Amino acid sequence: MAKAKKKVAKSKQGVSKKTARPKPRPQGKKPPRPQAPAGAYVPPETFSRRAHVKSMAEYEKLHRESAKNPEKFWAGVAKELHWFEPWTKALEWKAPHAKWFVGGKTNLSYNCLDRHLSTHRRNKAAIVWEGEPGDVRTLTYQQLHSEVCRFANALKSLGVGKGDRVAVYMGMVPELAVTILACARIGAIHSVVFGGFSTNAIVDRVHDCQAKAIVTCDGAWRRGSVVPLKKTVDEAVEKCPTIENVVVCRRTGNDVAMHPGRDHWWHELVAGEKDTCPATPLDSEHSLFILYTSGSTGKPKGIHHTTGGYMTGTYLTSKLVFDLRDEDVYWCTADIGWVTGHSYIVYGPLANGATSMMYEGAPNHPAPDRFWEIIERHKVNVFYTAPTAIRAFIKWGEQHPNKHDLSSLRLLGTVGEPINPEAWRWYHAVIGHKRCPIVDTWWQTETGSIMISPLPGATPTKPGSATMPLPGIFPEVVDKATGKAVPDGEQGLLVVRKPWPSMLRGIWGDDKRFKDVYWSAVEGSYFTGDGAVKDADGYFWIIGRVDDVIIVSGHNLGTAEVESALVSHPSVAEAAVIGVPDEMTGHAIAAFVTLKDGKAPGDALKDELKAHVAHEIGPIAKPKQIRFTGALPKTRSGKIMRRLLRDIASGKQQIGDTTTLEDYSILAKLKESDEG
Ligand code: PRX
Repeated sequence: MAKAKKKVAKSKQGVSKKTARPKPRPQGKKPPRPQAPAGAYVPPETFSRRAHVKSMAEYEKLHRESAKNPEKFWAGVAKELHWFEPWTKALEWKAPHAKWFVGGKTNLSYNCLDRHLSTHRRNKAAIVWEGEPGDVRTLTYQQLHSEVCRFANALKSLGVGKGDRVAVYMGMVPELAVTILACARIGAIHSVVFGGFSTNAIVDRVHDCQAKAIVTCDGAWRRGSVVPLKKTVDEAVEKCPTIENVVVCRRTGNDVAMHPGRDHWWHELVAGEKDTCPATPLDSEHSLFILYTSGSTGKPKGIHHTTGGYMTGTYLTSKLVFDLRDEDVYWCTADIGWVTGHSYIVYGPLANGATSMMYEGAPNHPAPDRFWEIIERHKVNVFYTAPTAIRAFIKWGEQHPNKHDLSSLRLLGTVGEPINPEAWRWYHAVIGHKRCPIVDTWWQTETGSIMISPLPGATPTKPGSATMPLPGIFPEVVDKATGKAVPDGEQGLLVVRKPWPSMLRGIWGDDKRFKDVYWSAVEGSYFTGDGAVKDADGYFWIIGRVDDVIIVSGHNLGTAEVESALVSHPSVAEAAVIGVPDEMTGHAIAAFVTLKDGKAPGDALKDELKAHVAHEIGPIAKPKQIRFTGALPKTRSGKIMRRLLRDIASGKQQIGDTTTLEDYSILAKLKESDEG
């Protein structure tokens, strides 16, 4: 025991000091590790030694090789997976349309399941699931394979086949993973609608992709109550003439109305089905899924992903970024309703034969320590969550994680928005006990898989930076007008110069919008919609959506930058800033601030916060208005709805579309929040 403890202490992540004099290299020994940038967190040596990518030198070699010949690099990755027929051409690029592994035939469900059945992984846990009420289910690869086959056969019996669209509106139950794997198995295209969305969201999405069946649950558990999913589906299906069948998985046991001929209980449907169903060999470019994401207009964009490229991207990134090891329990806390859940709960981890943890409910049910309890109970090794969750944990207080043994953790990750350095350091210290590297992963629904991220055994990390592009990925920060790279340290638009396998193939049914949104801002490059800075060490800092940039007296300020400054004040739990029109400066900054429990709002604190921001960034960034509020309006995926804040700050009575808002009562509270 004492020995193990010593090991942990030794492996603490060190902060590099550039001033340290390099020691002379003893003859015949390995070269010293390259020096990390000053202030960066260097991966613990114990971690690096066992990692898939062990050093910056290895990372740089991989990236260099991938740059020389990206197609060869990606083909090498794809070959690690199963193909029924090989491809004839790795890439066919007719900008902006890419085809990867042209002519190859594969199946992602096969690669996530069957591929492992002839190995030691057959009886390994594929999914460890915990329900909100505390029930636990474990599905081995063999068991998951059987479930997927049965449900694939059931879908076929309902007339669902290759190319048909299947809408999925479920809670976080194992059957959700089974459903998408079953679709992928027979070549049906799934479109998952987040279980927290309303009727209209289902109707719009079903209409757009003309889905022919919908899979749902009777209900889902959320903070101890039942969310009546089937009821919402019933309302939606009335307006969806393309839906022929509704499959209902029993979860909560609440009463539901079953429409004869149209509605089928999952358990009855699969009862008579065989537990084998050969995976259909599908063209590499066969459509895998459509996932809707919001754009600048009201109509969501149906992001379209295909089979072979998406499989290759999620496989490699899961392996390298989460450094997956066979014995790990890996937990991504996202919902499968978002791309993070698609790529990093289901497809990427399972393609690697990993054990993927899945949790049904809220992080604070029955108490704010639920996540830490889960980590302790299941001995989670790799934990991947969102900055918004981390800020909530900070707000709830460190007494909650401190109650639990988190020593199983070896790696932490974040995704979804820029993480402010304060939150990063808290995560590192309080959850990771200063020994777990943090991977801040930048990517999008559109990119399919992680693009910019540390490799945990290699990359020295700087809190707040997603660090460097993964091998095979070539982003650049460019000037909007010229499309040329801006000098290091200057802000510009984040673009990706070369095609990559898991890139979106388009917006479902709208090629013009696809070209306009992603391919018209910068000639020949994919435009991410994000602003970024690359520093002199080659680290990327994502500033946020370009529409979240506020120009004050001609100076660009990223909302994330100002928010980060506010959150670094000891009283602040969370902050959102927006630009409001200002006669003198063009725009001024308005800040909405939630305080940590026990901190009192007041004018003195407002002045203190203004001074704090001025001190942290400069007087230009000082908010003109500060409003204290109990909560911030967020989408169900946790993104702050700045558009609503803008409406409120400008005193508009009629506020814009609120259909994606998680908690409507927040609006009323915000309107009451005082100004000044
Ligand atoms: O602005 C970036 C932000 O989230 C956007 C993508 O959102 P979505 O398609 O919903 O996918 C979220 C999960 C991949 C990006 O354009 N974003 C995502 N990850 C990061 C981030 N911003 C900064 N740092 C990140 N790690």
